[in-house]
Amino acid sequence: MPTSTRPTLAAIETLLRNGYWDRTEIIRMADASLRVRKQSKGMQSSGPWGQDNLHAEALYLQDLEPHLLDLFPRLIASWEEPAPGYDMAYMTGHVDVAQLARSEALDQDQANEFQSHLGKRVFGQLHTPSASQPGLAHNVLATLLQAAQAIDKNQELACLGLPKLQINGQNCENLSANINKLQRQTSLLSQLDGQPQVRLHGDLFLENILLPASPDQAHWTSQLVLIDPVSVAGMSSGHPLFDLAKYESYATGELPAMRRGHVLVEGMPEIEARNGTNATQVNHFSFAIDWQQAEMRPFKEVNWHTVLRQSYISHYGPANPAMYALLEAYFAAAMVLCTQGIERQARALKALFSLQAAVSLPMS
Ligand SMILES: Nc1ncnc2c1ncn2[C@@H]1O[C@H](COP(=O)(O)OP(=O)(O)O)[C@@H](O)[C@H]1O
Ligand SMILES: [Mg+2]
Repeated sequence: MPTSTRPTLAAIETLLRNGYWDRTEIIRMADASLRVRKQSKGMQSSGPWGQDNLHAEALYLQDLEPHLLDLFPRLIASWEEPAPGYDMAYMTGHVDVAQLARSEALDQDQANEFQSHLGKRVFGQLHTPSASQPGLAHNVLATLLQAAQAIDKNQELACLGLPKLQINGQNCENLSANINKLQRQTSLLSQLDGQPQVRLHGDLFLENILLPASPDQAHWTSQLVLIDPVSVAGMSSGHPLFDLAKYESYATGELPAMRRGHVLVEGMPEIEARNGTNATQVNHFSFAIDWQQAEMRPFKEVNWHTVLRQSYISHYGPANPAMYALLEAYFAAAMVLCTQGIERQARALKALFSLQAAVSLPMS
């Protein structure tokens, strides 16, 4: 049962993750039982979001209906002081699917079985209609505006503010120009807040999905467990495409590539030399996953996404390409605000490229 005071631990066993905003540890209680504790770093935390997220995560776990209780670790306790946090069951013998993917522990048939089961549980069970006030369109717009400002203020990225750009061979306008367009074509933004609105996972990607460490035992897919719900910006309901787009951003290899700097970016460094740049000149940029890197092999050898997309289509029909591109622009823009170096360059180019697609594609 959730409590209002933080239960006293006996010992910290293992630090699982020291994230931007919170710390996740396996802890041992006085009675020798193990649990996982997630605690906010409070004032130490960095970045534009993350203050109230652990409170929202605990509430999300607390509100699950009985048939979803096996889909997440059991909530054991939650508290607000000295900083928000909660305890949950430690999923012994489980690892996150990103680790399984990296160690190439699943073959294609197993990866397909995993995706098919994930689709049934997420799109078929977790995504129930939500009556919450929709807030995604507002959040998307605010994040794009913040990213445009950050790009303009950053010396290295300011070249992306020029009016005529070409990214991966596609003519693009800068972020500010396309945000204006998005605000004028209100239908795309309002579709995000339109029907259907469902309970989302909010941060559905391979690192937030646990499976048994040895996936060959009987019924292994039914032991799939989701962790870390609610998006960094606090989204726990919205259009179902949000969860698919987030999942695919990682499972296609793009997000792991960007995070590890396995991305080929062209066009940026020359800019400094181009003092004579004028507004009518077209500036060429490109970005691509560096598939030659050994760390990208798992995503080349096994397809981690197509079966989940098929499952989405069978539940909701084909994804709207303009809305999908807008969500891609949003995820990239959010990360422009809290990354650096080549990852930040790649995220900025992705944000511009995707927003161009979002405002140019016809809406279905
Ligand atoms: N209940 C759990 N049982 C086992 N492992 C867990 C559990 N919760 C988290 N983990 C591990 O810790 C990692 C970080 O936890 P997570 O809740 O995703 O934190 P963050 O919000 O920092 O991403 C996960 O990727 C997973 O490997
Ligand atoms: Mg996580």
